[in-house]
Amino acid sequence: MIEIKKLTKAFGTRKITNELDLSIKDGEFLAIIGRSGEGKSVFLKQIIGLITPDSGQVMIDGKDVTKLKDRKLEDIFKKCGYVFQFAALLDSLNVFENIGISLLEEGEAAEKVKPLVLERIRQVGLRDDVLEKQTSELSGGMKKRVGLARTLMMNPKIIIYDEPTTGLDPITVRVIHDLIKQTQKEQKATSIVISHDIEIFNYADRVAMLHEGKIIHIGPAKEIWEVENPYVHQFIRGLPEGPIKQPGVTK
Ligand SMILES: Nc1ncnc2c1ncn2[C@@H]1O[C@H](COP(=O)(O)OP(=O)(O)O)[C@@H](O)[C@H]1O
Ligand SMILES: [Mg+2]
Repeated sequence: MIEIKKLTKAFGTRKITNELDLSIKDGEFLAIIGRSGEGKSVFLKQIIGLITPDSGQVMIDGKDVTKLKDRKLEDIFKKCGYVFQFAALLDSLNVFENIGISLLEEGEAAEKVKPLVLERIRQVGLRDDVLEKQTSELSGGMKKRVGLARTLMMNPKIIIYDEPTTGLDPITVRVIHDLIKQTQKEQKATSIVISHDIEIFNYADRVAMLHEGKIIHIGPAKEIWEVENPYVHQFIRGLPEGPIKQPGVTK
């Protein structure tokens, strides 16, 4: 379980997270929604230790990760392997090297790494022959799969996806959502997904909305369309009228 308590982080005078509280259950699929620039990425970066909060706690397996220093943090990253943002692939490496990178860097022989990489490639629905390809030869959807395969090499207990479907066509969006769901079930990985795709509600267990530094709503995804909270109501329907204002705009 991830227990977030009073998490606060300001840039200048603006509190991006403001005494934010949230409990994430083991193995759940949690979707996080909220406007662009609202602080979703900054929030998740505090969970994984990339940004240090001004105050508050992020308890993972009973440890406050905001208090860990580089060395210890790295141990947690490795053990739980809980970081994933569909990070950019390295163009200078082929698919095999991208996926196997952490083991190869540790000095493991390529023959030993290959079967492990193949297993992950198959798990994310790619053909074996993709291994020899350069990343420039891959489509957007294939790149996402390769990124996921690389993360799965760490056997993560927690996987964080920061806008995994942005910029993809509707069919690929669905394929990626299926893959996230399947990964959550197979790996029993707690999956936290930031998304603007309302289709995510068909996959997630719960939905949390970030607004002005706090989680203003959290509840079952299947009930999201019945939620009366006016911010949620306006946001998921994309209504221009409502309590959420467009900054700097008169209409
Ligand atoms: N390292 C940083 N230094 C200063 N401001 C930042 C930094 N990272 C993000 N911000 C600001 O924090 C706000 C929230 O950003 P972000 O978390 O990326 O939003 P979201 O992911 O919800 O679109 C933005 O206004 C952004 O400009
Ligand atoms: Mg973001």
